[in-house]
Amino acid sequence: MNALQEEILDLKRQKGAVILGHNYQCREVQEVSDFLGDSYGLSVQATKVEADTIVFAGVDFMAESAKILNPRKTVLLPNLKSACPMAAMVDAEALRAFKEENPGVPVVSYVNTTASVKCETDICCTSANAVKIVKSLPDEKIIFVPDSNLGLYVQRYVKDKEILLWPGYCPTHVNITAASLRSLKDEHPGAEVLVHPECTPEVIDLADFAYSTEGIIRHVVSSSKKEFIIGTEANMNHRLRKEAPGKTFHAVEEAICPSMREITLEDVRDSLLKSQHRIDLSDEIVSKARAPLERMLEAGRQD
Ligand code: 13P
Ligand code: SF4
Repeated sequence: MNALQEEILDLKRQKGAVILGHNYQCREVQEVSDFLGDSYGLSVQATKVEADTIVFAGVDFMAESAKILNPRKTVLLPNLKSACPMAAMVDAEALRAFKEENPGVPVVSYVNTTASVKCETDICCTSANAVKIVKSLPDEKIIFVPDSNLGLYVQRYVKDKEILLWPGYCPTHVNITAASLRSLKDEHPGAEVLVHPECTPEVIDLADFAYSTEGIIRHVVSSSKKEFIIGTEANMNHRLRKEAPGKTFHAVEEAICPSMREITLEDVRDSLLKSQHRIDLSDEIVSKARAPLERMLEAGRQD
């Protein structure tokens, strides 16, 4: 631990705070986090926190979900620039209009959405349970927002429902091209290929498995294979190396999420020192957005 990390650990103790960190955070921020995980795991963790303050080292929608699930806690996002561009690709007004065009069709929202979009949602999902959630619905048609690639991935496993897709996408995962994955596979022919379901269908076709970030880590830890190509944010390699020492990982270099990388150790320190930047949501938003998140948590994870 460096001096700044030690300062953060002291501040955490003084302020009675915990740090929840996403698997895409930089190594230094991961090292001061109390819990690391994917969007699903961090949401579950947010419901269990006893400390009064949660510092959320992740992107905006993750911190909002933590606040919605645990509204009496102070939830802090260390850097306001840490905003997921995919979550900004759908807003509540546009979704309401789409619902009016498709009356009676339930809405499944990826957690990568704003709290107001969750208020228009029947049930949320993450990449750890999207297939399971869509399968669990009795309806023949569903609206899926905002990630069209995750929606297409779900459609591979759910043949008896029509999925109405929203034209959203993750700029980081669409940056992973079939050509770059093919050339990595040529360079490392013995490696198993793991990608995130936010990747394009062409990239998923080239992979051995598609999982959430935590699903990728679980798979690597339990696999008898020794070498892996990892088709998601390159910072995943820090946790992978820690959890599976002795195994080799090849990252896709262009898979960088600038929003996740906004958060620095200085931001985390300042967040604790100045109690910034607080997530504030009205009681009405919290109570409406909570129901689809709780339905998702009741369903559990799949990977
Ligand atoms: P996970 O829930 O798999 O960690 O994914 C979150 C995310 O934003 C991926 O881009
Ligand atoms: Fe959003 Fe994509 Fe970054 Fe995940 S990787 S936070 S979906 S932009």
